[in-house]
Amino acid sequence: MTDKTILKALRGEVQSTPPIWMMRQAGRYLPEYRATRAKAGDFLSLCYNPELAAEVTLQPIRRYGFDGAILFADILLLPQALGADLWFVTGEGPRLSTVTSQADFDALKPSSDVHEVLSPIYDTIRILKQELPKVTTLIGFAGAPWTVATYMVAGRGTPDQGPAHALKDENRAVFSALIDLLTEGTIEYLSRQIEAGAEVVKLFDSWAGSLKGQDFDDFALKPAQKIITALKARHPGVPVIAFPREAGNRYVGFAKATGADCVAIDNSVSAQWAADHVQVDGCVQGNLASRHMVTGGQALVDETRAIVQALGKGPHIFNLGHGITPDADPDNVQRMIDAVRG
Ligand code: CP3
Repeated sequence: MTDKTILKALRGEVQSTPPIWMMRQAGRYLPEYRATRAKAGDFLSLCYNPELAAEVTLQPIRRYGFDGAILFADILLLPQALGADLWFVTGEGPRLSTVTSQADFDALKPSSDVHEVLSPIYDTIRILKQELPKVTTLIGFAGAPWTVATYMVAGRGTPDQGPAHALKDENRAVFSALIDLLTEGTIEYLSRQIEAGAEVVKLFDSWAGSLKGQDFDDFALKPAQKIITALKARHPGVPVIAFPREAGNRYVGFAKATGADCVAIDNSVSAQWAADHVQVDGCVQGNLASRHMVTGGQALVDETRAIVQALGKGPHIFNLGHGITPDADPDNVQRMIDAVRG
């Protein structure tokens, strides 16, 4: 059995100091990331350059000694591999060709075809397996079908996921077909990440919170359950972290219903509430508000300690409630780590 602290937490072990890593830990708040991205040319070129993607994955490990390294890539590479056009507008975010009709859907590729485009990502993982410190856990990831679909339907990020909700309500056949294709594609993509060397995989459902009632069951819970069941059949023993962000009360029972080994929580729920209602089923990851990485000070230390305290009686992986933002101060990251490790 491994001594890696993240894998121990995912097996349900309670540790006196929780392991720690951070969403978007390789990112624009780090000058060394900005330099490597400039060398690559742009964000997508960086994602598809295995040497440089491995380099930016390693940067926060070298600087801070995090317990986990998350593969550098993006959740929108899967739509691109399925045939969607994808580009990033500086200062605005992603743009994609849209899927709003049966004809748009029919133009996409089958899920078995995604590996041609995604093979550099598997190469990044193989490089990281060689270069990561022996104590560091390598985390692969994908977007959950609903979240990825919200970008594919709208062709961009949206404040309320309106276009995806409209397609879901007005053309259920096309919407469901898209969710099913993304479910199959995600199983393919994550399986290959695991075969290349990812030791844990995380499913990001960043917009799960906008699904209510039966929609949450149909489009957040069931796809996650299908993906996790297929991965567990193919790769027994490889843990899965699910992040149905802003799920609120629906965090309760999510691990049991989907088979996830850990539920990552955002900071709209309190750590104590998660200890009482979510950690009863297993490992919880989270949930310091990322604004503390900008604002720092005593509040950062106090809040970090309160989270460690609240979730310390069960299996816990310390993380932010969402990704670190470009305006964060790298010194505040070190202050957070010092407060966790005491
Ligand atoms: O360090 C890591 O966390 C690993 C790499 C990673 C990125 N994106 C790199 C990235 C991961 C795990 C993601 C996930 C991702 N991508 C999500 C889910 C998590 C979340 O944040 O809710 C989503 C919704 C995306 C889609 C996406 N990618 C958007 C909306 C944007 C633009 C917004 C922004 O932050 O600029 C991206 C770009 C992106 N992905 C960047 C990084 C480091 C910034 C791009 C740059 O360097 O210019």
